[in-house]
Amino acid sequence: MAEKAVTLSPDLSARSGLPMAPASRFVRACLRLPVDRTPVWFLRQAGRYMPEYQAVRRHHSLLEICKNPELAAEVTITAAEKLDVDAAIIFADLLLPLDGMGLDFEFLAGEGPVIHHPVRTAADVEALRTDRAAELGYVAEAIRKVVAHFNDRIGIVGFCGAPFTLASYMIEGGGSRNYIFTKSLMYREPAVWQLLLEKLASVLAEYAAQQVEAGADVIQIFDSWAGALSPADYREFVLPITTRLVRQVQALGVPVIYFGVDTATLLPAMRETGADVIGLDWRVPLDQGWAALGHAVAVQGNLDPITLFANEDLLRTRVRQILAQAGGRPGHIFNLGHGIVPGTPVENVQRVVAYVREFSATEEVSHA
Ligand code: CP3
Repeated sequence: MAEKAVTLSPDLSARSGLPMAPASRFVRACLRLPVDRTPVWFLRQAGRYMPEYQAVRRHHSLLEICKNPELAAEVTITAAEKLDVDAAIIFADLLLPLDGMGLDFEFLAGEGPVIHHPVRTAADVEALRTDRAAELGYVAEAIRKVVAHFNDRIGIVGFCGAPFTLASYMIEGGGSRNYIFTKSLMYREPAVWQLLLEKLASVLAEYAAQQVEAGADVIQIFDSWAGALSPADYREFVLPITTRLVRQVQALGVPVIYFGVDTATLLPAMRETGADVIGLDWRVPLDQGWAALGHAVAVQGNLDPITLFANEDLLRTRVRQILAQAGGRPGHIFNLGHGIVPGTPVENVQRVVAYVREFSATEEVSHA
Protein backbone atom coordinates (compact mmCIF):
# COMPACT_ATOMS: atom_id res chain seq x y z
CA MET A 1 0.00 0.00 0.00
CA ALA A 2 1.42 3.35 -1.03
CA GLU A 3 2.03 5.86 1.68
CA LYS A 4 3.03 9.48 1.58
CA ALA A 5 6.60 10.48 2.40
CA VAL A 6 7.22 10.50 6.11
CA THR A 7 7.21 13.84 7.82
CA LEU A 8 9.55 13.80 10.79
CA SER A 9 8.83 15.80 13.88
CA PRO A 10 11.00 18.95 14.07
CA ASP A 11 12.67 17.39 17.14
CA LEU A 12 13.76 14.28 15.33
CA SER A 13 14.78 15.93 12.12
CA ALA A 14 16.85 18.51 14.00
CA ARG A 15 18.60 16.14 16.35
CA SER A 16 18.98 13.06 14.20
CA GLY A 17 20.30 15.04 11.26
CA LEU A 18 17.36 13.83 9.15
CA PRO A 19 16.10 14.08 6.37
CA MET A 20 19.49 12.44 5.87
CA ALA A 21 18.49 8.80 6.12
CA PRO A 22 19.47 7.08 9.38
CA ALA A 23 21.97 4.30 8.91
CA SER A 24 20.27 1.20 10.20
CA ARG A 25 17.23 -0.54 8.77
CA PHE A 26 15.84 -0.80 12.29
CA VAL A 27 15.99 2.93 13.04
CA ARG A 28 14.56 3.71 9.61
CA ALA A 29 11.59 1.48 10.35
CA CYS A 30 11.07 3.17 13.75
CA LEU A 31 10.71 6.43 11.82
CA ARG A 32 8.43 4.82 9.19
CA LEU A 33 10.98 5.34 6.46
CA PRO A 34 11.05 2.78 3.64
CA VAL A 35 13.36 -0.22 4.17
CA ASP A 36 14.72 -2.96 1.89
CA ARG A 37 13.18 -5.60 4.16
CA THR A 38 11.45 -5.78 7.52
CA PRO A 39 13.90 -5.46 10.42
CA VAL A 40 13.71 -8.17 13.08
CA TRP A 41 14.91 -8.61 16.66
CA PHE A 42 13.51 -10.28 19.79
CA LEU A 43 12.43 -9.17 23.22
CA ARG A 44 14.69 -10.94 25.73
CA GLN A 45 16.96 -12.17 22.96
CA ALA A 46 19.95 -12.49 25.31
CA GLY A 47 18.34 -14.46 28.13
CA ARG A 48 18.43 -17.89 29.69
CA TYR A 49 17.35 -19.87 26.62
CA MET A 50 20.79 -19.19 25.22
CA PRO A 51 23.68 -21.52 26.17
CA GLU A 52 26.24 -18.71 25.91
CA TYR A 53 24.29 -16.71 28.51
CA GLN A 54 23.94 -19.76 30.75
CA ALA A 55 27.72 -20.21 30.64
CA VAL A 56 28.32 -16.63 31.85
CA ARG A 57 25.52 -17.00 34.39
CA ARG A 58 27.20 -20.03 35.97
CA HIS A 59 29.96 -17.76 37.24
CA HIS A 60 28.03 -14.54 37.89
CA SER A 61 24.68 -13.48 39.30
CA LEU A 62 22.23 -11.58 37.11
CA LEU A 63 23.07 -8.32 38.89
CA GLU A 64 26.81 -8.93 38.56
CA ILE A 65 26.39 -9.28 34.81
CA CYS A 66 24.23 -6.14 34.62
CA LYS A 67 26.73 -4.10 36.64
CA ASN A 68 29.83 -5.28 34.79
CA PRO A 69 29.95 -3.39 31.46
CA GLU A 70 32.39 -5.91 29.98
CA LEU A 71 30.07 -8.86 30.70
CA ALA A 72 26.85 -7.02 29.86
CA ALA A 73 28.30 -5.95 26.51
CA GLU A 74 29.57 -9.46 25.80
CA VAL A 75 26.17 -11.03 26.48
CA THR A 76 24.42 -8.40 24.35
CA ILE A 77 26.81 -8.80 21.43
CA THR A 78 26.93 -12.59 21.49
CA ALA A 79 23.15 -12.91 21.25
CA ALA A 80 22.76 -10.33 18.48
CA GLU A 81 25.59 -11.88 16.44
CA LYS A 82 24.37 -15.42 16.91
CA LEU A 83 20.81 -14.53 15.86
CA ASP A 84 21.95 -12.14 13.11
CA VAL A 85 19.25 -9.65 14.07
CA ASP A 86 18.81 -5.99 13.11
CA ALA A 87 18.96 -4.63 16.67
CA ALA A 88 20.74 -5.39 19.94
CA ILE A 89 19.03 -4.57 23.23
CA ILE A 90 21.46 -3.77 26.00
CA PHE A 91 21.66 -6.46 28.66
CA ALA A 92 20.29 -4.91 31.86
CA ASP A 93 17.16 -5.26 33.99
CA LEU A 94 14.08 -3.16 34.47
CA LEU A 95 14.62 -2.94 38.22
CA LEU A 96 18.15 -1.50 38.27
CA PRO A 97 16.97 2.10 38.95
CA LEU A 98 15.34 0.96 42.21
CA ASP A 99 18.76 0.50 43.76
CA GLY A 100 19.72 4.17 43.75
CA MET A 101 16.23 5.19 44.80
CA GLY A 102 16.87 3.31 48.05
CA LEU A 103 15.11 -0.02 47.55
CA ASP A 104 16.93 -3.31 48.07
CA PHE A 105 15.90 -6.19 45.84
CA GLU A 106 17.12 -9.54 44.68
CA PHE A 107 16.20 -12.14 42.11
CA LEU A 108 15.19 -15.45 43.68
CA ALA A 109 15.36 -18.55 41.51
CA GLY A 110 11.87 -19.54 40.45
CA GLU A 111 10.26 -16.52 42.09
CA GLY A 112 11.53 -13.58 40.11
CA PRO A 113 12.32 -10.23 41.71
CA VAL A 114 11.71 -9.60 45.40
CA ILE A 115 11.81 -6.06 46.80
CA HIS A 116 12.46 -6.37 50.51
CA HIS A 117 10.67 -3.31 51.83
CA PRO A 118 7.88 -2.44 49.42
CA VAL A 119 6.66 1.13 49.10
CA ARG A 120 3.23 1.42 50.72
CA THR A 121 2.90 4.79 52.48
CA ALA A 122 3.39 8.50 51.84
CA ALA A 123 6.51 8.37 54.03
CA ASP A 124 7.90 5.50 51.92
CA VAL A 125 7.41 7.54 48.74
CA GLU A 126 8.90 10.68 50.28
CA ALA A 127 11.98 8.72 51.34
CA LEU A 128 12.75 7.61 47.74
CA ARG A 129 15.82 9.33 46.37
CA THR A 130 16.00 10.81 42.90
CA ASP A 131 19.53 12.21 43.02
CA ARG A 132 21.52 9.07 42.34
CA ALA A 133 20.74 8.19 38.71
CA ALA A 134 24.43 8.72 37.97
CA GLU A 135 25.08 5.42 39.77
CA LEU A 136 23.48 3.66 36.80
CA GLY A 137 26.42 4.74 34.63
CA TYR A 138 27.49 1.09 34.20
CA VAL A 139 24.62 0.60 31.74
CA ALA A 140 25.81 3.52 29.59
CA GLU A 141 29.32 2.11 29.81
CA ALA A 142 28.09 -1.23 28.47
CA ILE A 143 26.24 0.56 25.66
CA ARG A 144 29.47 2.31 24.65
CA LYS A 145 31.14 -1.06 24.23
CA VAL A 146 28.25 -2.46 22.21
CA VAL A 147 28.20 0.63 19.97
CA ALA A 148 31.95 0.34 19.45
CA HIS A 149 31.45 -3.26 18.35
CA PHE A 150 28.55 -2.79 15.93
CA ASN A 151 29.02 0.81 14.80
CA ASP A 152 26.00 1.48 12.58
CA ARG A 153 25.65 -2.11 11.39
CA ILE A 154 22.56 -2.71 13.56
CA GLY A 155 20.43 -0.60 15.87
CA ILE A 156 21.29 -0.37 19.57
CA VAL A 157 18.30 -0.35 21.88
CA GLY A 158 18.55 1.16 25.33
CA PHE A 159 15.63 0.65 27.67
CA CYS A 160 13.94 1.49 30.92
CA GLY A 161 10.73 0.58 32.70
CA ALA A 162 7.68 2.80 32.47
CA PRO A 163 6.58 4.60 35.64
CA PHE A 164 3.50 2.41 36.16
CA THR A 165 5.26 -0.93 35.73
CA LEU A 166 8.14 0.06 37.99
CA ALA A 167 5.76 1.51 40.58
CA SER A 168 3.89 -1.81 40.58
CA TYR A 169 7.10 -3.69 41.46
CA MET A 170 7.97 -1.16 44.15
CA ILE A 171 4.53 -1.33 45.74
CA GLU A 172 3.75 -5.04 45.39
CA GLY A 173 7.30 -6.08 46.29
CA GLY A 174 7.49 -8.31 43.20
CA GLY A 175 5.25 -9.62 40.45
CA SER A 176 1.50 -9.58 41.08
CA ARG A 177 -1.73 -11.07 39.88
CA ASN A 178 -4.29 -8.46 40.93
CA TYR A 179 -2.18 -5.39 41.76
CA ILE A 180 -4.21 -4.79 44.90
CA PHE A 181 -1.59 -2.70 46.72
CA THR A 182 -0.74 -0.74 43.58
CA LYS A 183 -4.32 0.08 42.70
CA SER A 184 -5.22 0.81 46.33
CA LEU A 185 -2.54 3.50 46.50
CA MET A 186 -3.55 4.82 43.08
CA TYR A 187 -7.25 5.11 44.00
CA ARG A 188 -7.00 6.11 47.64
CA GLU A 189 -3.98 8.39 47.69
CA PRO A 190 -3.75 10.00 44.28
CA ALA A 191 -1.29 12.68 45.47
CA VAL A 192 1.11 10.06 46.84
CA TRP A 193 0.69 8.04 43.64
CA GLN A 194 1.45 11.12 41.58
CA LEU A 195 4.57 11.88 43.61
CA LEU A 196 5.80 8.30 43.20
CA LEU A 197 5.32 8.40 39.43
CA GLU A 198 6.99 11.78 39.19
CA LYS A 199 9.99 10.59 41.14
CA LEU A 200 10.27 7.54 38.92
CA ALA A 201 9.89 9.58 35.73
CA SER A 202 12.63 11.98 36.74
CA VAL A 203 15.10 9.14 37.44
CA LEU A 204 14.08 7.32 34.25
CA ALA A 205 14.51 10.43 32.09
CA GLU A 206 18.04 10.88 33.39
CA TYR A 207 18.81 7.18 32.96
CA ALA A 208 17.53 7.24 29.37
CA ALA A 209 19.60 10.36 28.69
CA GLN A 210 22.76 8.54 29.85
CA GLN A 211 21.96 5.70 27.47
CA VAL A 212 21.37 8.01 24.51
CA GLU A 213 24.53 9.94 25.31
CA ALA A 214 26.38 6.60 25.21
CA GLY A 215 25.05 5.88 21.73
CA ALA A 216 21.70 4.09 22.09
CA ASP A 217 19.80 4.67 18.82
CA VAL A 218 16.35 4.05 20.25
CA ILE A 219 14.89 3.79 23.77
CA GLN A 220 12.28 1.16 24.52
CA ILE A 221 10.03 1.93 27.49
CA PHE A 222 8.62 -1.29 28.97
CA ASP A 223 5.16 -0.87 30.48
CA SER A 224 4.92 -4.62 30.69
CA TRP A 225 2.02 -4.74 33.14
CA ALA A 226 -0.06 -1.77 31.91
CA GLY A 227 -2.56 -4.32 30.62
CA ALA A 228 -3.70 -4.77 34.22
CA LEU A 229 -5.40 -1.36 33.94
CA SER A 230 -8.77 -0.43 32.47
CA PRO A 231 -8.59 2.25 29.77
CA ALA A 232 -10.20 4.74 32.19
CA ASP A 233 -7.63 4.07 34.94
CA TYR A 234 -4.78 4.10 32.45
CA ARG A 235 -5.86 7.48 31.12
CA GLU A 236 -6.42 9.03 34.51
CA PHE A 237 -3.51 7.66 36.53
CA VAL A 238 -0.79 6.68 34.08
CA LEU A 239 -1.05 8.35 30.68
CA PRO A 240 -0.05 11.93 31.66
CA ILE A 241 3.24 11.04 33.37
CA THR A 242 4.07 8.45 30.72
CA THR A 243 3.49 11.01 27.99
CA ARG A 244 5.85 13.37 29.75
CA LEU A 245 8.56 10.72 29.92
CA VAL A 246 8.11 9.77 26.25
CA ARG A 247 8.42 13.42 25.19
CA GLN A 248 11.49 13.94 27.35
CA VAL A 249 13.22 10.96 25.79
CA GLN A 250 12.24 12.02 22.27
CA ALA A 251 13.70 15.44 22.99
CA LEU A 252 17.07 13.65 23.29
CA GLY A 253 16.76 13.01 19.55
CA VAL A 254 15.90 9.30 19.48
CA PRO A 255 12.71 7.41 18.62
CA VAL A 256 10.83 5.79 21.50
CA ILE A 257 9.25 2.33 21.44
CA TYR A 258 6.48 1.99 24.02
CA PHE A 259 5.52 -1.58 24.86
CA GLY A 260 3.05 -3.37 27.10
CA VAL A 261 1.36 -6.76 27.31
CA ASP A 262 -2.38 -7.38 27.03
CA THR A 263 -2.93 -3.89 25.73
CA ALA A 264 -5.54 -4.39 22.98
CA THR A 265 -8.03 -2.07 24.67
CA LEU A 266 -5.37 0.44 25.70
CA LEU A 267 -3.84 1.03 22.28
CA PRO A 268 -5.60 4.31 21.42
CA ALA A 269 -4.58 5.74 24.80
CA MET A 270 -1.01 4.43 24.50
CA ARG A 271 -0.82 6.10 21.11
CA GLU A 272 -1.52 9.43 22.83
CA THR A 273 1.86 9.25 24.58
CA GLY A 274 3.27 10.24 21.19
CA ALA A 275 5.72 7.31 21.12
CA ASP A 276 7.18 6.68 17.66
CA VAL A 277 6.63 2.92 17.84
CA ILE A 278 4.05 0.93 19.81
CA GLY A 279 4.91 -2.64 20.78
CA LEU A 280 1.99 -5.02 20.21
CA ASP A 281 1.50 -8.23 22.18
CA TRP A 282 0.31 -11.35 20.35
CA ARG A 283 -3.27 -11.32 21.58
CA VAL A 284 -4.21 -8.60 19.12
CA PRO A 285 -3.89 -9.37 15.38
CA LEU A 286 -1.24 -6.99 14.10
CA ASP A 287 -3.49 -5.44 11.44
CA GLN A 288 -6.23 -4.75 13.98
CA GLY A 289 -3.76 -3.33 16.48
CA TRP A 290 -2.22 -1.08 13.85
CA ALA A 291 -5.66 0.07 12.70
CA ALA A 292 -6.61 0.88 16.31
CA LEU A 293 -3.48 3.02 16.60
CA GLY A 294 -3.81 4.63 13.21
CA HIS A 295 -1.07 4.26 10.63
CA ALA A 296 0.81 7.41 11.56
CA VAL A 297 2.81 5.42 14.13
CA ALA A 298 5.16 2.46 13.69
CA VAL A 299 4.46 -0.92 15.29
CA GLN A 300 6.69 -3.65 16.67
CA GLY A 301 5.60 -7.25 17.06
CA ASN A 302 3.93 -9.57 17.49
CA LEU A 303 4.60 -13.31 17.25
CA ASP A 304 3.50 -15.30 20.31
CA PRO A 305 6.83 -16.25 21.93
CA ILE A 306 5.53 -19.76 22.57
CA THR A 307 5.16 -20.27 18.80
CA LEU A 308 8.93 -20.73 18.95
CA PHE A 309 8.19 -24.20 20.37
CA ALA A 310 6.13 -25.13 17.29
CA ASN A 311 7.27 -26.97 14.17
CA GLU A 312 8.83 -25.22 11.20
CA ASP A 313 5.68 -25.24 9.10
CA LEU A 314 3.58 -23.48 11.69
CA LEU A 315 6.36 -21.04 12.45
CA ARG A 316 6.70 -20.18 8.79
CA THR A 317 2.94 -19.71 8.45
CA ARG A 318 2.74 -17.40 11.46
CA VAL A 319 5.66 -15.27 10.27
CA ARG A 320 4.02 -14.95 6.85
CA GLN A 321 0.70 -14.00 8.42
CA ILE A 322 2.22 -11.25 10.53
CA LEU A 323 4.09 -9.82 7.56
CA ALA A 324 0.90 -9.98 5.49
CA GLN A 325 -0.97 -8.12 8.22
CA ALA A 326 1.71 -5.44 8.18
CA GLY A 327 0.92 -5.18 4.48
CA GLY A 328 4.32 -3.88 3.42
CA ARG A 329 3.60 -0.54 5.06
CA PRO A 330 6.74 1.27 6.23
CA GLY A 331 7.06 1.20 10.01
CA HIS A 332 6.83 -2.47 10.95
CA ILE A 333 9.55 -4.01 13.09
CA PHE A 334 9.19 -7.76 13.42
CA ASN A 335 9.45 -8.98 17.01
CA LEU A 336 7.68 -11.19 19.50
CA GLY A 337 4.58 -10.16 21.41
CA HIS A 338 6.57 -10.61 24.65
CA GLY A 339 9.95 -11.97 25.69
CA ILE A 340 11.56 -15.27 24.71
CA VAL A 341 11.08 -17.78 27.54
CA PRO A 342 13.68 -20.20 28.96
CA GLY A 343 13.78 -23.49 27.06
CA THR A 344 13.09 -21.92 23.65
CA PRO A 345 15.04 -23.72 20.90
CA VAL A 346 17.64 -21.28 19.60
CA GLU A 347 17.37 -22.76 16.06
CA ASN A 348 13.74 -21.70 15.89
CA VAL A 349 14.64 -18.13 16.78
CA GLN A 350 17.23 -18.21 14.00
CA ARG A 351 14.64 -19.66 11.64
CA VAL A 352 12.30 -16.75 12.29
CA VAL A 353 15.07 -14.34 11.32
CA ALA A 354 15.58 -16.25 8.08
CA TYR A 355 11.85 -16.34 7.32
CA VAL A 356 11.39 -12.62 7.96
CA ARG A 357 14.33 -11.93 5.62
CA GLU A 358 13.05 -14.22 2.94
CA PHE A 359 9.39 -13.24 3.00
CA SER A 360 9.71 -9.50 3.51
CA ALA A 361 12.30 -8.99 0.78
CA THR A 362 10.19 -10.64 -1.92
CA GLU A 363 7.00 -9.82 -3.82
CA GLU A 364 4.92 -11.53 -1.17
CA VAL A 365 5.03 -8.37 0.87
CA SER A 366 5.66 -5.36 -1.28
CA HIS A 367 7.35 -2.37 0.28
CA ALA A 368 5.60 0.69 -0.94
O1 CP3 B 1 17.72 -9.84 26.04
C1 CP3 B 1 17.56 -9.77 27.26
O2 CP3 B 1 17.21 -10.73 27.98
C2 CP3 B 1 17.84 -8.42 27.78
C3 CP3 B 1 17.95 -8.26 29.18
C4 CP3 B 1 16.71 -8.05 30.02
C5 CP3 B 1 16.59 -8.60 31.32
N1 CP3 B 1 15.48 -8.07 31.87
C6 CP3 B 1 17.55 -9.53 31.97
C7 CP3 B 1 16.98 -10.55 32.87
C8 CP3 B 1 15.61 -7.24 29.78
C9 CP3 B 1 15.24 -6.46 28.53
C10 CP3 B 1 14.84 -7.26 30.97
C11 CP3 B 1 13.62 -6.44 31.15
C12 CP3 B 1 12.69 -6.78 32.23
N2 CP3 B 1 13.00 -7.16 33.49
C13 CP3 B 1 11.31 -6.65 32.14
C14 CP3 B 1 10.56 -6.09 30.96
C15 CP3 B 1 10.49 -7.04 29.88
C16 CP3 B 1 9.30 -7.92 29.94
O3 CP3 B 1 9.54 -9.14 29.94
O4 CP3 B 1 8.19 -7.42 29.98
C17 CP3 B 1 10.78 -7.03 33.37
C18 CP3 B 1 9.31 -7.10 33.71
C19 CP3 B 1 11.85 -7.34 34.22
C20 CP3 B 1 11.82 -7.75 35.65
C21 CP3 B 1 12.34 -9.13 35.79
N3 CP3 B 1 13.66 -9.48 35.72
C22 CP3 B 1 11.59 -10.29 36.05
C23 CP3 B 1 10.08 -10.33 36.19
C24 CP3 B 1 12.50 -11.35 36.14
C25 CP3 B 1 12.21 -12.75 36.54
C26 CP3 B 1 11.40 -13.46 35.54
C27 CP3 B 1 12.27 -14.22 34.61
O5 CP3 B 1 12.15 -14.04 33.39
O6 CP3 B 1 13.04 -15.02 35.13
C28 CP3 B 1 13.79 -10.83 35.89
C29 CP3 B 1 15.05 -11.60 35.84
C30 CP3 B 1 15.86 -11.48 34.58
N4 CP3 B 1 16.17 -10.31 33.97
C31 CP3 B 1 16.50 -12.54 33.88
C32 CP3 B 1 17.20 -11.96 32.82
C33 CP3 B 1 18.08 -12.66 31.80
C34 CP3 B 1 16.43 -14.02 34.23
C35 CP3 B 1 17.06 -14.37 35.50
C36 CP3 B 1 18.51 -14.77 35.50
O7 CP3 B 1 19.24 -14.79 34.50
O8 CP3 B 1 18.95 -15.10 36.61
